[in-house]
Amino acid sequence: MDEPLVLGIETSCDETGVGIVRGHTLLADAVASSVEEHARFGGVVPEVASRAHLEAMVPTIERACETAGIRLHDVDAIAVTSGPGLAGALLVGVAAAKALALGLGKPIYGVNHLASHVAVDQLEHGPLPEPCLAMLVSGGHSSLLRVSDVTVGVQPMGATIDDAAGEAFDKVARLLGLPFPGGPHIDRSARSGSSVAIDFPRGLTSRRDLERHRFDFSFSGLKTAVARWVEARERAGEPVPVEDVAASFQEAVCDVLTRKAIDAAVSEGIEDILIGGGVAANSRLRAMAEERATARGIRVRVPRPGLCTDNGAMVAALGSEMVARGRTPSSLDLPADSSMPV
Ligand code: KG4
Ligand code: ZN
Repeated sequence: MDEPLVLGIETSCDETGVGIVRGHTLLADAVASSVEEHARFGGVVPEVASRAHLEAMVPTIERACETAGIRLHDVDAIAVTSGPGLAGALLVGVAAAKALALGLGKPIYGVNHLASHVAVDQLEHGPLPEPCLAMLVSGGHSSLLRVSDVTVGVQPMGATIDDAAGEAFDKVARLLGLPFPGGPHIDRSARSGSSVAIDFPRGLTSRRDLERHRFDFSFSGLKTAVARWVEARERAGEPVPVEDVAASFQEAVCDVLTRKAIDAAVSEGIEDILIGGGVAANSRLRAMAEERATARGIRVRVPRPGLCTDNGAMVAALGSEMVARGRTPSSLDLPADSSMPV
């Protein structure tokens, strides 16, 4: 018998994602983003996001079915991000998923957004290594998680105490006059700059900070340091070397992220690190993680950039794993839980 066909819906932030998978095979990954509507505000506006999800939902479901070459009636289960995320945005996805589940008479699985960032990797690299250490770095979160069974949940080991890594990329990009979202622009700009040009601070790495925040991150001090450095240059009437600032800033972020992820894996005796979230698309982070982890005998898995950012495939991937592992479906009164614990 064929493995079940699972349709996943993601609306936790500004991407309306609908993915369709069969087992570990990705059949469709349709994403409609409202990022351009948020760009002029320099960040995601919740109300704008909810409205955009509402408009994009049905066309995105249709597009996914068309790409996968299936009819909605063929779907065996519906999975949906039920949290954490923006409350109004989540509600649109959860309502759509319930309507589909009810209309088609198929089970619904509410899934955790962070766990689905981990599960998506199986679509590219096969069965997940469990236990593994997941580092999720995006515009909304920066966490180190221990994953022993992705369908049961993820255990937080550490997280940012202020800005998320992606938020830091976006804010620094703005300071440098680069467009939103800034991560990809900093990544590109940094390639022609020097990563050792400016010695920016590495948050929460002093011996004292490590006692209380061994696996936590802090990026707001780094952002302020970049702002001060840029302001000083401008005050002195000197040009700002955008490429060098981008490269040195990126180096500071990647240095702390990889150091702490490897330390967390070693402390747990875990031999596999999985990196997910939008910032995992960063070329320096991927290279540094690979190099440093390999030196410690640790394997690193990073999905291709298109699967790292928010999408429906990751939700379908986790839903598919829940079906495969015989997890109980959610009930039809499944709530959207914006502050869902991980
Ligand atoms: O996972 P994601 O699409 O949405 C959230 O859940 O936040 O992540 C978006 C974040 C943005 O902050 C964006 O600037 C960052 O990921 N990002 C990157 C890169 N591509 C996206 N940051 C650094 N380097 C990149 N290449
Ligand atoms: Zn995300």
